[in-house]
Amino acid sequence: MQIADIDFCGPGDLASLIAIESACFKTPWATPMIEYDLNNPGPAIYMKAVMKGVTVGYGVLSMSETASHLMNLAVLPEFRMRCVALQLMSAFDELSRLRGCDRMRLEVRSSNVVARKFYASLGFVYSCREKAYYADGEDGIVLVSRLPLKIEYRMRPDDFDKHIQTPSRG
Ligand SMILES: CC(C)(COP(=O)(O)OP(=O)(O)OC[C@H]1O[C@@H](n2cnc3c(N)ncnc32)[C@H](O)[C@@H]1OP(=O)(O)O)[C@@H](O)C(=O)NCCC(=O)NCCS
Repeated sequence: MQIADIDFCGPGDLASLIAIESACFKTPWATPMIEYDLNNPGPAIYMKAVMKGVTVGYGVLSMSETASHLMNLAVLPEFRMRCVALQLMSAFDELSRLRGCDRMRLEVRSSNVVARKFYASLGFVYSCREKAYYADGEDGIVLVSRLPLKIEYRMRPDDFDKHIQTPSRG
């Protein structure tokens, strides 16, 4: 894993979020909608993951009294499999529980095997299928999890080699 700075987004993040959307989705979220949300903080909470000054991922969460709803999550392709999404989900998990939520839900494309595996690793389970949930007609799978999520950071041997130096003796 690599440690990312997780922070709330503001109006200055628009360009980075649009770049992530177009790199990650065939039907990206509409720019005016993201721009409106960033300029008018409301129920949709935008958080970003930054590594060495580059915004490499972001997510969007909304919360009701008892449940939170993950509305979006994306990491730039070249920064995947480094626990960036895991760190964003950890922040959303904490925010949700601070607000008194005891569960989280989300929708994912039925064909999105990678994301479904990712969410399963956090403890999400199948709830139901939403027919033609997406604009192109694809079904959405609704997943739910109790909170806290199963957040487990795992270091790989190459992380160790890259980031941790064994102190030399003498
Ligand atoms: C899904 C997505 C957000 C995951 O981001 P990520 O930063 O690569 O995920 P992480 O590195 O935090 O993954 C943590 C765990 O998820 C699982 N996982 C993530 N990507 C995986 C992949 N390509 N294959 C298998 N398992 C995967 C693994 O269990 C992984 O743990 P491990 O590294 O110890 O094996 C990213 O692939 C993405 O942006 N996809 C395109 C956009 C998208 O589909 N968003 C979801 C919309 S609902």
